[in-house]
Amino acid sequence: MKLTSALTVLASLSTASALRQKYCAKIDPETASGAKGYFTTTYSSNNEATFSLSLDMSDFTGEADSCTIENGLVYHVHSFWNNETVSSSANSFCGASYTGGHYDPSLACSSASEDAKDKCAAIGRTADQGYEYPCNSDDFGDGHLASCELGDLSGKFGELKGGDRYFYTSHKDTLAPFVANYKETDDNANMWSSVVFHCKDDASRLVCADLVEC
Ligand SMILES: *[C@@H]1O[C@H](CO)[C@@H](O)[C@H](O)[C@H]1NC(C)=O
Repeated sequence: MKLTSALTVLASLSTASALRQKYCAKIDPETASGAKGYFTTTYSSNNEATFSLSLDMSDFTGEADSCTIENGLVYHVHSFWNNETVSSSANSFCGASYTGGHYDPSLACSSASEDAKDKCAAIGRTADQGYEYPCNSDDFGDGHLASCELGDLSGKFGELKGGDRYFYTSHKDTLAPFVANYKETDDNANMWSSVVFHCKDDASRLVCADLVEC
């Protein structure tokens, strides 16, 4: 009895002290050209989170001829959200001036890393310098955690497949974008602020949304 109650106290203490930070993005068809959905990520420590998403692209009107949405999407956590009037957008309103590049504090350096121009170049990690971004979900799953940008969620967990233009998934991410960098930069890392969904076919930016505390 005594042991049980001591354990109960310990369990409730550790629950109380565990991080329970949560960030949500809502994709609103009114501002995102008919796309509808959400992305939610819940942290249990500074770098461990479980995220889930659902995205209904059946009424989306913004894809180019070079994009067949049914072929799949890739998605990433991006550095900025620079549009104060809306919290989700589509196409050019998801461009680099609105959302920046991929959050990449470990300098895994895809060509779309927020650090591609400066820090990645300084360590020889650009395509011009012969570097090939090594990320794929099989290797990441096997423990090659440094091979992917922390913001490259489809690199880490696979692209979204959705023959019927409806996408959903959920993953536990043991090396998630750091809570400490949520909308804050530090000496070593850029911030993260938003999530962007790209067409797999042509890498064009289709839909994006601000990540807010929720
Ligand atoms: C913000 O994005 C919306 C589309 O979601 C667009 O209509 C609006 O012009 C953008 N605002 C700015 C300041 O660019």
